[in-house]
Amino acid sequence: MILSTVAELFSSGKKHTVVEVKGWVKSFRANRFIALNDGSTLKPLQCVLDFETMDAALLKRLSVGAAVHVKGDLVESQGKGQTLEIQVSEIVVLGEADPELVSKTILQPKRHSLEFLREQAHLRPRTNTFGAVMRLRSSLSFAIHQYFHQNGFNYMHAPIITGSDAEGAGEMFRVTTLDPKNPPLTESGAVDYSKDFFGKETNLTVSGQLEAETYAMALGKVYTFGPTFRAENSNTSRHLAEFWMIEPEVAFMDLEGNMDLAEDFLKSVIGYILEHNSEDLIFLEERLEQEEKTKPQNERSPMRLTEKLNFVIENNFKRVSYTEAIDILRNSKPNKKKKFNFQIDEWGADLQSEHERFLVEKHFKCPVILFDYPANIKAFYMRLNEDEKTVRAMDILFPGIGEIVGGSQREERLEVLKEKMAALDIPEEELWWYLDLRAFGTAVHSGFGLGFERLVMFATGMNNIRDVIPYPRTPQNADF
Ligand code: 4AD
Ligand code: MG
Repeated sequence: MILSTVAELFSSGKKHTVVEVKGWVKSFRANRFIALNDGSTLKPLQCVLDFETMDAALLKRLSVGAAVHVKGDLVESQGKGQTLEIQVSEIVVLGEADPELVSKTILQPKRHSLEFLREQAHLRPRTNTFGAVMRLRSSLSFAIHQYFHQNGFNYMHAPIITGSDAEGAGEMFRVTTLDPKNPPLTESGAVDYSKDFFGKETNLTVSGQLEAETYAMALGKVYTFGPTFRAENSNTSRHLAEFWMIEPEVAFMDLEGNMDLAEDFLKSVIGYILEHNSEDLIFLEERLEQEEKTKPQNERSPMRLTEKLNFVIENNFKRVSYTEAIDILRNSKPNKKKKFNFQIDEWGADLQSEHERFLVEKHFKCPVILFDYPANIKAFYMRLNEDEKTVRAMDILFPGIGEIVGGSQREERLEVLKEKMAALDIPEEELWWYLDLRAFGTAVHSGFGLGFERLVMFATGMNNIRDVIPYPRTPQNADF
């Protein structure tokens, strides 16, 4: 006898073998059938047994949500909708689930709102939707590692506790062991961080980029894939305080190469799930169809989920300079009719998500790579162009998401970088090691950051970033 997962049983396609499987009762039907789910696949395994002849005590313990161990013959199913089923010869309840309690949770088999599911984030992976999203999330991470592995990149683990603010936005979570009620003070009355654990101020990292640069300039091609933290107080459907970022960094690669890499990479990982996760994708596509029906006609997505994914891998991303984009936006209908919350009047304006989505969804109708942004709206480390006004930055914008990738060619000239840091009041002492990179064999190099949850949102069609990560961290919310 073999203990198998439901996925293995379905894919083996073998009948009449005695098998064993363990999982959770999803639902009951017609006093004869149990739908059993073990998380290995979306499809439940139908277990056939005769409730009437069953021991009453056992039957009482057998309820929705219970963990069970089933033995029996795997046979071709008589019913519609499934290929194989188990004719149960023995069933053991491993763990009960009190029906009274289950009735108050998302485990009761009916449709629940995503908001309600969030309140029970510890149970939601048992639902079809979250099972599908989490299998896709796992599959995408595998595809990402595989892509870099096949293309000669080394996986680099950037530190999580850092003393620097890579993005210079000051949105960091402090890491300290000082007593908040009674911290040591300096003579001037400020908190004395020289007495703190690390002997200086430290934070959770907002990006592994600066450290990745130092490793790219030694190993050539590296990437990070780890958690990053931002204390930005933006309670939107696209921001998390803790999210996962993938940051490749490549020596001797310029911005052109960076755009080519990002486009090829995104197409490759999306292609991977289309090939390997079709069952979950089709389920999510149908779910999304239902959700779309509740929206007004003009807000509905013109493409089905898998159509959208195929569209991305089959079409070139449109590459547009910031300057061209500003011209398009300035002359656009919503700008002229004052429909944007932020009007675009002049060159130099920072783009908001409403502008990014206009460019992608209404104007170009395909993924867009915007490049060469004004220097003063981008981070200090980006390479200054000859015009001395713009930097070699690129953002990739996706339909329904907006910015999914942010990257750049890095400033490799020591003097230019020093001037930039001075202008922004970034002390050289803090980043001496980063500046050193420009003193010992400096060279052109580039990289980008992909927000993993934004990719998972795009791939699954989920509209809220809280629904693509097991335990979302957002302002006022760190439950579980
Ligand atoms: O554009 P960002 O801030 O770029 C960087 O951090 C660079 N150091 C990356 C690099 O060049 N190595 O962030 C990169 C991506 C964004 O495009 C977005 O997809 C995602 O990270 N992101 C967030 N995702 C979820 N919640 C947030 N609060 C996010 N902030 C950024
Ligand atoms: Mg960005």
